[in-house]
Amino acid sequence: MKPQIAESINNRFSPMIFEDKSLNMDQVNTVFEAGTLAASSYNAQPWMFIYGEKGTSDYEELRSLLSEYNQVWTADATILVLTLARHLDEKGEPNYFALYDLGQAVSSMAIQASHMGLQLHQMGGYDMVKAREVLNIPHEYITGSIFALGVPGDKSNLEGHFKERAHEPRMRKPITEISGGVSLFRKS
Ligand SMILES: Cc1cc2nc3c(=O)[nH]c(=O)nc-3n(C[C@H](O)[C@H](O)[C@H](O)COP(=O)(O)O)c2cc1C
Repeated sequence: MKPQIAESINNRFSPMIFEDKSLNMDQVNTVFEAGTLAASSYNAQPWMFIYGEKGTSDYEELRSLLSEYNQVWTADATILVLTLARHLDEKGEPNYFALYDLGQAVSSMAIQASHMGLQLHQMGGYDMVKAREVLNIPHEYITGSIFALGVPGDKSNLEGHFKERAHEPRMRKPITEISGGVSLFRKS
């Protein structure tokens, strides 16, 4: 039987092209709101988001942090968001799960975006050292991904590598490869 995956999860993907279309703040805030609903260790909600909207200097500053590769395909992304997780609490005690919790929040945001006909595409390809420096990120925070958010564009308008990548079939490991009983890692 084909698994009945929730539509917004099944339809989520990382677009290589966005429509040159603005989003209203209600849409953007709805995506952030979905992030806040994620579970987190001790309900610490260690996530923090720095965002910029296309046409603003905040956006340009965030975009300039991206690798050359990522700068190409984000040309029409509407919103760029740098994600952060607070990994040291007020007493300087480490929160081992901070980055894990941030990932859960971004995952919720991705699914919410998909539900709204939007999509987001996360990127690890950016200059984290420069990001810390120019944005004056406090040492209590660890950087996560930067993601691009917007209305996914028509992938037939892409060229070369980006077109090929956008048309690749979705590849996933089978669940038999990623799950098992308690003997999964035991030596026989
Ligand atoms: C933490 C993280 C970092 C990523 N970094 C990049 C990146 O720098 N550039 C890029 O084009 N895609 C990046 N991706 C997107 C992945 O390549 C993509 O999620 C994966 O190929 C699966 O495709 P899908 O999201 O469309 O299902 C990143 C994804 C994650 C979660």
